[in-house]
Amino acid sequence: MHFAMSDTTNIVLEGQDLHKTYRMGDVDVPVLKGASITVNAGEWVAILGSSGSGKSTLLHLLGDLDRPDDDRGSITFQGTPLSTFSQGRRNAYRNQDVGFVFQFYHLLPELTVLENTILPAMVGSRSVDTQERATNLLNSFGLSHRLQHRPRELSGGERQRTAIARALVNNPAILLADEPTGNLDEETGAGILDLLSAEHAGGLTILMVTHDRAIAERADRIVELHHGVVVEG
Ligand SMILES: Nc1ncnc2c1ncn2[C@@H]1O[C@H](COP(=O)(O)OP(=O)(O)OP(=O)(O)O)[C@@H](O)[C@H]1O
Ligand SMILES: [Mg+2]
Repeated sequence: MHFAMSDTTNIVLEGQDLHKTYRMGDVDVPVLKGASITVNAGEWVAILGSSGSGKSTLLHLLGDLDRPDDDRGSITFQGTPLSTFSQGRRNAYRNQDVGFVFQFYHLLPELTVLENTILPAMVGSRSVDTQERATNLLNSFGLSHRLQHRPRELSGGERQRTAIARALVNNPAILLADEPTGNLDEETGAGILDLLSAEHAGGLTILMVTHDRAIAERADRIVELHHGVVVEG
């Protein structure tokens, strides 16, 4: 899929000049020093960076799971800066507009696979038949026989498939994936990347971070996070 770089109408998510500094005791540790990234509708973008380069930090800012340093830069979703969102709109952004996949799944252990997947739709006020959508997603991810199981009864790959289904249950405009195969063996990880690839072929916009160039190469476009800024890969 190809979009002209100058065509702003197709931009789903844009971070501009993002800064993030962590305070460790008395010391300020700047992690992001003016990072910028643009993701167009229908694109799969990979952010490649070494461990500690700030990939998770950047993804958390873009997903509104954390905030950039005061008054430094902007994050714009479908043309509107998050900074202009009300608290309620921000909650809806986190819950519905973006889907987030974590390296370590973050499934709730006491809930079944199906319940974990339905959860984001219970938080929002969506009229769709959530149970049916969740079941369809899980079936298409090869988990039809696991719907009533708890996460502890699943393999790592099955847990991540469940986490991806959960991230997609509200039909987000973009999937933010933080090292989605980072905790899996190569073969299982390849299965997860195939699943993402199939969703992408179906139109899903994806922003994925990884430290592994071979994984990044599954994306349409690679950018690199170096010394706190994003450069073309
Ligand atoms: N809450 C925090 N408080 C202090 N320092 C933090 C915090 N979160 C991250 N850092 C530091 O910021 C830097 C970037 O961390 P981040 O987790 O974003 O890197 P990463 O690129 O995702 O690394 P990895 O590939 O290991 O997941 C690291 O030096 C880390 O120690
Ligand atoms: Mg990380």
